[in-house]
Amino acid sequence: MANLLPSSTRIGSTLAAQPRHPLAHLPTPLEPLTQLTKTLRQQGPAPELWIKRDDCTGLAGGGNKTRKLEYLIADAKAKGADTLMTFGAIQSNHARQTAAACAEAGLACELILTRQVPSRQEDYERTGNVLLDALCGAHLTLTEPGSAKNAAQQRQDQLEQSGQQVYRVPAGGSNEIGALGYVQCLLELWEQLLDKQLDCQYLVHASSSAGTQAGLLCGLLGLAGELSTEAAAQLPRLLGVNVYHPQEQTLAQRIESLCGAVAQRLGLELPTNWQSNILLDSSALGTGYGVPTEQTLQAIRLLAQTQGILLDPAYSGKAFAALLAQIKRGAFTNAERVVFIHTGGAMVLPAYVDTLTPP
Ligand SMILES: Cc1ncc(COP(=O)(O)O)c(C=O)c1O
Repeated sequence: MANLLPSSTRIGSTLAAQPRHPLAHLPTPLEPLTQLTKTLRQQGPAPELWIKRDDCTGLAGGGNKTRKLEYLIADAKAKGADTLMTFGAIQSNHARQTAAACAEAGLACELILTRQVPSRQEDYERTGNVLLDALCGAHLTLTEPGSAKNAAQQRQDQLEQSGQQVYRVPAGGSNEIGALGYVQCLLELWEQLLDKQLDCQYLVHASSSAGTQAGLLCGLLGLAGELSTEAAAQLPRLLGVNVYHPQEQTLAQRIESLCGAVAQRLGLELPTNWQSNILLDSSALGTGYGVPTEQTLQAIRLLAQTQGILLDPAYSGKAFAALLAQIKRGAFTNAERVVFIHTGGAMVLPAYVDTLTPP
């Protein structure tokens, strides 16, 4: 493994020059999943599994949006905003972390939350992330599918009439500013792998609004461009598990355009045919966003019962289910190593009490 520390790379120094409002507990731990690996190897070949604990970023329950919000809050402040407005599903983890980030940064928080997950019980709109949004002082507007745009404009007009300056953050914090958080995560992870002298063949994570995957991919491509050809060939491949889009192509296109925009912001030249590195697995989506499959529930139980680590039914549980299915199909050997990037989500669990309670 090539010994080029992120701090001495061009991508590391360009990133360090980007305005950032510190919020997260970093670096998040990189831990072996020893018990789980042992359990899986009793059934057949399995890679050595590790986990990058981005569920432990620290802000009101943590998760992947905290890294993005470090850059978004810095930009909002630089632009003189006093109010952040963002969007998500009712149980959005992004909304919860935005509410918490605003509280810490002294900004007002406006959440436009859409009822986009079908037929959930009453608890779904009262517990989990929605409860925490309100606890952190956010103002909530609940809307039906198709009405978020109008509801947001109406609310923004109202706020501006009373003198507030609103900064809009897209759903998932996924633009070229938020995605910088995952360029930074990739460099942090690379440094941890070097430090522990671990080779790694794959990184796997949940993907929906594309910012996490675009940032990680941009970080990988940036690093690859600075390493020798041999060393670059040893970098892990990145696999995003689609947990949102009925058409996988929609997600692939978003990753492509966002990764391009992040690269431009960082002054990186991407290699020809870099798009072939956009790897997706949509096999765990089931009937749709936010609806866990039987495999999702099994994956959540397996990780909780072998490692005491909590996944969620909409994102990390589905991503982990896809990884387990690949292992079961024999996609990896015992000689390989895979890092699962845990993007968080467990704050939602109480809202799925009906689905998760054993019969
Ligand atoms: C827990 C969790 N994991 C993964 C993701 C996906 O990240 P991204 O939207 O950057 O693709 C989200 C997005 O909301 C999330 O809440």
